[in-house]
Amino acid sequence: MKIAIGNDHVAVDMKWEIKKYLEEKGIEVINVGTDSTERFDYPISGYKVAKMVANKEVDLGVLICGTGVGISLAANKVKGIRACVCSDPYTAKLSRQHNNTNIIAFGARVIGVETAKMIVDEWLNASFEGGRHANRVAMITEIEETQNLEAAK
Ligand code: RB5
Repeated sequence: MKIAIGNDHVAVDMKWEIKKYLEEKGIEVINVGTDSTERFDYPISGYKVAKMVANKEVDLGVLICGTGVGISLAANKVKGIRACVCSDPYTAKLSRQHNNTNIIAFGARVIGVETAKMIVDEWLNASFEGGRHANRVAMITEIEETQNLEAAK
């Protein structure tokens, strides 16, 4: 399992904590975020991690900024990305089971590191259930690819 991790200046400490936590589980973690607390534009990290996931250079991605919002919005602009910002482990788990998320995001100003670890655990331990959920995820892809949704007509 290979994971890309990205962050902005607000989330440097949490990035190191989560990277270490994942590595202790035997996961290879590629850090593409900033390692400095100098102001850093979160779309850069969101884009880099998203591209690596979309190109299958890594299996999954983790993104952290102040709220997790900006960095996940940026990632979601890359084709094939389903990034979800979570503040609780339940949403993280269901986002994988039902929505087949391939990037998880959270906010270093919103949650503590222990909650972040629980989120990552629930997310990684879950798997996509397919079935009716696959149809809905396919609709999301249809919107992404065609800017249209036949089922909504
Ligand atoms: C940086 O101040 C902050 O805007 C950023 O970390 C993030 O919260 C954006 O969504």
